[in-house]
Amino acid sequence: MAKLFINEKNKKGHINAELYGNFSEHLGRCIYEGLYVGENSDIPNTNGMRNDVVAALKEMKLPVLRWPGGCFADEYHWKDGIGPKETRKKMVNTNWGGVTEDNSFGTHEFFELCEQIGCKTYINGNVGSGTVQEMSEWIEYMTFDGVSPMAELRKKNGHEKAWKVDYFGVGNENWGCGGNMSPEYYANLYRRYQTFVRNYNAESPIFKICCGANGGDTYWTEKVLKTCHENVPAEAHGLMNGLSLHYYTVPNEWSAKGSSTDFDEKEWYKTLSKAAYMDELIRKHGAIMDQYDPEKKIGLIVDEWGTWFDCEPGTNPGFLYQQNTMRDALVAGVTLNIFNKHCDRVKMANIAQLVNVLQAVILTDGPKMLLTPTYHIFHMYKYHQDAELIESFIEGTKTIGEEKEFMVPNIQESASVDKDGVITITINNLSTKDSEDIEIAFAERRPGEVTSAIVTNDMKAYNSFENPDNVKETEFKDFTVTDKGISFKLPACSVIQFRVR
Ligand code: AHR
Repeated sequence: MAKLFINEKNKKGHINAELYGNFSEHLGRCIYEGLYVGENSDIPNTNGMRNDVVAALKEMKLPVLRWPGGCFADEYHWKDGIGPKETRKKMVNTNWGGVTEDNSFGTHEFFELCEQIGCKTYINGNVGSGTVQEMSEWIEYMTFDGVSPMAELRKKNGHEKAWKVDYFGVGNENWGCGGNMSPEYYANLYRRYQTFVRNYNAESPIFKICCGANGGDTYWTEKVLKTCHENVPAEAHGLMNGLSLHYYTVPNEWSAKGSSTDFDEKEWYKTLSKAAYMDELIRKHGAIMDQYDPEKKIGLIVDEWGTWFDCEPGTNPGFLYQQNTMRDALVAGVTLNIFNKHCDRVKMANIAQLVNVLQAVILTDGPKMLLTPTYHIFHMYKYHQDAELIESFIEGTKTIGEEKEFMVPNIQESASVDKDGVITITINNLSTKDSEDIEIAFAERRPGEVTSAIVTNDMKAYNSFENPDNVKETEFKDFTVTDKGISFKLPACSVIQFRVR
């Protein structure tokens, strides 16, 4: 029996809706086919955007979308993607399969997509192979409403009003595909490039994101923060609003990562333990950030995370297409709970990637679309968005696993309260076999109306186009409400959500 204590009187911080963000790159079938099919497609669309996908993302309450990459961003020249489509440059996507990129999805299309979804915009600029002028002009093109060459160009291309850029990344993975730079060299470039990311609209300043570390590389974090804070007034916070972090859950070596659907229990626990490492990563990088920014003004932006397996047999290896099982559901459930618990430092996170790439929430096959197990977790967790984290802890967890170095707690949780006083609790049972009796106890709340939803199935279960609802969110009714709390048996291999009024 595990006891979950919830002290709803102790609010621990605001959970930015953006922790539930996503990422869309010009990679494989994410943008083309997955999101954008063009106005003339037989697949139902609005201005080229797939209606089925947009509707599902609205229902999931996608808060923010990152674009155009990824590695693609540091080779992207935005002027290639504006103006009449027939005259847009065709180029080779060197990072992802060497396919032809026809630039039919560009700046205007990205804003159209975000408008249809109703989400915030996160654009990643090009430091690796782009100039300061190019970045500066992109900002002017997107956000300036007055008289200027770029504003005129935007109007000529059919968009009178300036758009709102909520977040802007100054380069991507500049320690790797974004230029193989040293941290000091990049940090100096960051200082320079970000200067010209102008805030044309004082009421909605752009949140500037500096390129952060690869996984546990604290050396990068230390050097970048040091260089960005040198001779900079304290109130400028190293000239950044956010510092990114990329971390992928890869079960084995990068050269043979493991199958997305064919794995044993050993690999299940190994994967979940690697996902749970996110907690340690946030603490490690957070501790360095605390030295430069004790007031936590700079957000840690985990703008790439999720599982990365061997791509599906028979698909283009450059397209990173993989299936999505209950294991992905647990990785998402565990990671999102970790983000909630670190909401004082983590201000945005973007799972990679939205459609048809890596740990996607949606897969498509021509006109068909399916929601993955990961989608259902984001859907169940959406009530945490913009709620207040509340204190919670579990007594009586067991440590489980098959290898000493890859053990995990069997139960893991987070809880929040929204502006209407509704408490949302999300709990994961990481065991493949054992259910667990759980008693939730509140500090004071006497539960009134309680609803619950669950995603549970065998560890290798997934949704295929033949059986798209094999794994889905269902109502959970098998719980007892007492005057002090809630008791229930949590099935093995499950993610559950309670809403308590
Ligand atoms: O998400 C796929 C790739 O992973 C991104 O392009 C890159 O930033 C990271 O290495």
